[in-house]
Formats: sequence, structure tokens, C-alpha cells
Amino acid sequence: MDKVKVGVIGLGMGQFHLRSYEACPDASVIALCDIDGAKLSRLLRERPGVEGFTDYREMLAMEELQAVSVALPNFLHAPVTLAALEAGKHVLCEKPMAMNAAEALEMKAAAERLGRVLMIHFNMRYMATAATLKPIVDAAVLGEVYHVTTTYTRRDGYPPTSWFGRKDMSGGGPLIDMGVHRIDLALWLLGRPRPVSAFGAVYDLLARKKLKGVEFDCEDFATAMVRFENGCTLYVATSWDGHEKDGGGLTMSIRGTEGAVFEQEGRLILCTEEHGVPTARTLEQVEPGETPQDHFVSCIREGRQPDPCAEDGVTLMKVLDAIYESARTRSEVRIE
Ligand SMILES: NC(=O)c1ccc[n+]([C@@H]2O[C@H](COP(=O)([O-])OP(=O)(O)OC[C@H]3O[C@@H](n4cnc5c(N)ncnc54)[C@H](O)[C@@H]3O)[C@@H](O)[C@H]2O)c1
Repeated sequence: MDKVKVGVIGLGMGQFHLRSYEACPDASVIALCDIDGAKLSRLLRERPGVEGFTDYREMLAMEELQAVSVALPNFLHAPVTLAALEAGKHVLCEKPMAMNAAEALEMKAAAERLGRVLMIHFNMRYMATAATLKPIVDAAVLGEVYHVTTTYTRRDGYPPTSWFGRKDMSGGGPLIDMGVHRIDLALWLLGRPRPVSAFGAVYDLLARKKLKGVEFDCEDFATAMVRFENGCTLYVATSWDGHEKDGGGLTMSIRGTEGAVFEQEGRLILCTEEHGVPTARTLEQVEPGETPQDHFVSCIREGRQPDPCAEDGVTLMKVLDAIYESARTRSEVRIE
């Protein structure tokens, strides 16, 4: 079978997609696009034969182009993904899928109508911690899981590019930027329980104190509790700034009736009971078998539904919409 001919639109995080496609034996990168001509030229110089564009519409007009990664500021995910799907391309769209659930639903419907693969780049599912935890949760080693706690925090870690802090371009702060990864990971590990409500709060107290003369109208910290139909709950806290110990980082704990697992400083500790005696052991981590780009390309070749799929992206946007709405109204918000 011929290699899948791909392009990348947006060459910040998009450079990660680019390198991953270049390492994929079944993909061939034929086009790159960025409005920053200097960045584009630098990347093209090292890649003879690859075509460069500063207008994504011109790139999408390439007949031989089969698939694109959309790695643009969040407000461009929906319009550019829709344009790519309409041009007949398969799309790997960066997280968050869109600015809100309404946009995400439109993208999902377009992919279904046009029969194209639409995958969302929740790449934390393709990391060693996820690859290690998934079989443990699936095999019910933890028994019935009833609560997940997860944090993704930074100390003075505002993103370097200014659009992130503008709600009209990003949709929000660390919740939609970083929290989205952790909520997705928890939902995926738990086998996609249906979220039914959320209670959340967001704060911008440190940003208001620190960021003078900068356009910034997002939160710097968000916290929320999400309730699932099966009774399980999820607590998430995420920040771009805060007086975080050791600069912040990633944590997760998954509590079940037979055991619990704790992610701390990159280690995974499984706590269970053996013959009534509490035990704790550090898990040897499993390397993931493929990258998100490998998976996207193989779904195109085999006509398979990708993982994470558009439906996963829509669910996440519904959860985020509910958390932001809950923060605004100071009440628990139902998720339909
Ligand atoms: N999955 C992850 O781990 C991860 C990590 C970082 C960023 N991201 C996501 O990737 C996306 C991009 O983030 P980033 O950090 O790369 O941002 P960035 O600002 O560093 O890069 C965006 C790039 O897009 C280009 N661009 C802007 N408008 C364009 C247009 N109309 N046409 C073509 N190019 C255009 C910019 O010139 C820039 O090079 C965001 O949605 C972000 O949430 C995901």
C-alpha cells in the first residue's frame, strides 16, 4: 500500500507532528503551512521536495494531499478542520478539539458526512503512564473505580505565545489547555463513563497581580469535580501559575474497591491488599507501541475509527463548557 501523503498546518506544536510523521514508515510529509514565512522557510530548507504554504486554503487545494495535522491556535481548530474535511482530507486536530461543544459537534458531523477520519491529539494516552495503567484498570485490578484525582500544575508557567491568554483565541486558560489532557486521560482509563454534571471554579488572582500591560482574560487556576452516570467522580486542578511545590507537575490517583494507583513524579505506585496486609509497589512502566501519528495513519489506511475519536473530543468540550458555566454561575451544571 502507498504511503499516506500528509501535511502539517501550524508549526509550533506542529513540528512535533512533523517529526513523528517523518519517523512513521507509512507516512510521507509533502506539505507544510505556517503564516510565519521565516519559520516555514527554515523547516523547508532541511526538507527538499516538501511544498510550503502561508495560506492553508492553497495547501488544502493540493489534490495528492490526503491528510493534515491542524496544530493552530484553538480558535482556528474548527474552521480549518472543517475546510480540510470539505477538501476531502483526513484530520488529526490538536487538543482542545474546539472552542466549545457546539463547534466540536459540527466538526464531528462533517467528518461523518464526508467519511473522513477525524482524530483528536490527546497524546497523553500515548505515553508510558497511560500504557501502563490502561491494562491494570481494564483487568479490574483496582476493582470498581469510584474516584479519580488529577492535577496538572505549573508555577509561573504562562504559555510563551500571547494568544493562549486571550479567551477569544484560546477559549480559556489552563483548564482548556492542560486540564483537558488529564480529564481525557481519566475518561479513557475508566472506559468512557458518561459525565452527567460538573461543579467548578476558576481564578485569575495571580495573573491580575503579575501580568501588567499584557492582554490576558483567562483563568490562571481552575478546579472542578465531575460526576459520572455510574456514580464515579473526578477531581481536577490545573494551573499556569500558583505557589506550587517544586514548580508543579502531573499527579493522578485512581481509587477502586480492590486497590488504588498513584502517579507521583513520574512513578506509578499500586496499593492493594494481600491476605489482608496493605501492600505498595512501584510499577514497571510499559512503553507505548505507537505514536498518535502512527495510529492516525494506520486508521486512514485501514478505514478504522481513531482513538481518540471525534466523539471523545466532543465529550471533553461538553465537560469543559459545563465547568466554565459552573464557575460563572457558581452552581452545579448538568451535562447532556
Ligand atoms: N498535545 C500537546 O501536548 C500540545 C502541546 C502544545 C500545544 N498544543 C496545541 O497545539 C496548538 C498550537 O499550539 P502551539 O503551542 O504550537 O502554539 P504556537 O503559537 O507556538 O504555534 C502556532 C503556530 O501556528 C501558526 N499560525 C497561526 N495562525 C495561522 C494560520 N492562520 N495559518 C497557518 N499558520 C498559522 C503560528 O505562526 C505558529 O507558528 C494549540 O491548540 C495547543 O493547545 C498541544
